[in-house]
This record gives sequence, C-alpha cells and structure tokens, in this order.
Amino acid sequence: MLVPTVVRLTSHAPKDPLTGWEGYWRGIHSTGRSGEVLWDSGSLTEALQYADAIVAHFDPTLPVIDVGCGNGTYTRWLAKTFPHVTGIDVSQSAVDLAKKESAGLNNIDFLAVDATQIGAGDALLKQMGPSNIFVRGVLHVLKPDKQARLADNLRVLVKSTGRVFLTETNFPGNSLAYMQELGATRQNIAPPLRSALENLPRPGHFGAQERGRAFPSAQWKLITDGPVSIEVVPMNSHDLRQQVPGYFAVLTGS
Ligand SMILES: C[S@@+](CC[C@H](N)C(=O)[O-])C[C@H]1O[C@@H](n2cnc3c(N)ncnc32)[C@H](O)[C@@H]1O
Repeated sequence: MLVPTVVRLTSHAPKDPLTGWEGYWRGIHSTGRSGEVLWDSGSLTEALQYADAIVAHFDPTLPVIDVGCGNGTYTRWLAKTFPHVTGIDVSQSAVDLAKKESAGLNNIDFLAVDATQIGAGDALLKQMGPSNIFVRGVLHVLKPDKQARLADNLRVLVKSTGRVFLTETNFPGNSLAYMQELGATRQNIAPPLRSALENLPRPGHFGAQERGRAFPSAQWKLITDGPVSIEVVPMNSHDLRQQVPGYFAVLTGS
C-alpha cells in the first residue's frame, strides 16, 4: 500500500545523485534530534559504540577526515578527541551549514569535495598528508562503481599509517521494508523521510559482503568489523529512539 506514495514522492528526485544531495541540503532548515535530517539524531549512544575502536586504531598525530560529513555532527564529535578534523562533502550547501554549526571551533574545517572523483585522494593528500578517515552513511548511498572509486581515494590518503573507520546502515530487507520499519504508511510519511525520498538516491545496504567488494583484500587489510545500531531522528508518536541495523569496519591499506 506504500508503493504509490513512494513512487509519487521519488518521481521528481534528480537522476544525478550529486544534484540530489545539493538540492536536499539547500532545503534543510533544522538539524539535530528534532530536525529535518533523517540520520542526524545526535545520539551519544550511537557515537559511543565507535569511540573505543577509533581511539584504539587512529594514530592521534594524523589529521582526521570525515568523508561525506553532511552538517558536520560527527566532525564536531571527532574534534573533541583529535587535534584537527576536516569534513568534506560533495554538497556546498552541506559544507556551508556545517561551517555555520561549527562556528567558534578552531580545530575544524570543511571543504566541498566529490570523494568519488578520480584524483580527489591525491589532491587531499597533497593538502593534508596521510590521514585517518571516518565515514558514516555514505557508502550505502553510492553505487558499487562509486564505492570502489571512493575506496581508491581513501587508499591514497591513508598511506601506511592512517586507518579507515566506516559505519553504514545494513538493513536486511528492501527499501520499502526499510521505510516501513521507520514508520512510513500510505497516509503518513514523516517529513525527514519525505525530504530524503524527494531528493536522494535510493539507499542500499552495506555490510561485510559489500565492504569486501569495495575494499578488496588485495589492497586492504581488515582490522576489525561487526554490527552496530545506527540511530535516525525519532519519527514515532512517542518520540522514542529509532535504530537501524548497521555495520562497522576498521581497515588499513595493505
Ligand atoms: C547519509 S548522509 C551522512 C552525513 C554524515 N556523515 C552523518 O553521518 O551525519 C551522506 C552524506 O554524504 C554526502 N555525499 C554523497 N555523495 C558524496 C560524494 N561523492 N562525495 C562526498 N560526499 C558525498 C552527502 O552530501 C551527505 O551529506
């Protein structure tokens, strides 16, 4: 019963995902737990799942790059632990919003970069040197060829000392089941989900299998991985936490 509503909402989404992201971020006026950005729950509980692995595996003397940083919620979280964090995002509007929300923090900066573009890794390496990489919720919205290009760029950036920490949604069902899980019905699709549907590429899942394809063992060494819970903004009538099954991994170039 949800299908006609979803088809109607997605029918105007731009074919080019990068145009979609820019349009999405241009239309965002509120963020955080009660805001419009589906994945920006600002949940400390989610972040705490990542803290031990990041502290254990990131060399603190290296810069950190938050790839696909959006409005910078996790860039700011990382900047509480590491001396310098750069958020990069393909959308200039996301970067502008991230800068606004990070005003006054002097160990953070943001750049508009398409992280899947050939040569992006070399350009960032020249600017920042070998780096640790944090990625949340980006790979599952990229097609496999773009995932592989992103991984190629990250490999250039981590050199031998940096690490990649990735965390992605890994919902086992199809995208319709995912929407139902988030509480969507034919009559009611909450605004954060609605604006994602109207603008963005359809999300896939990203687990061990997808990671193995994008980060092949001939080029990458898996340090650790496992399940996590990703939190989205509450969209239920009781304002309760809403979680989605996720997958995390820590990798280094081999
Ligand atoms: C689901 S959001 C996650 C945002 C942020 N990482 C977070 O967890 O709050 C995905 C982000 O990836 C960005 N993105 C998508 N494709 C990208 C690309 N090719 N290069 C850089 N950023 C990209 C989008 O603009 C968006 O901000």
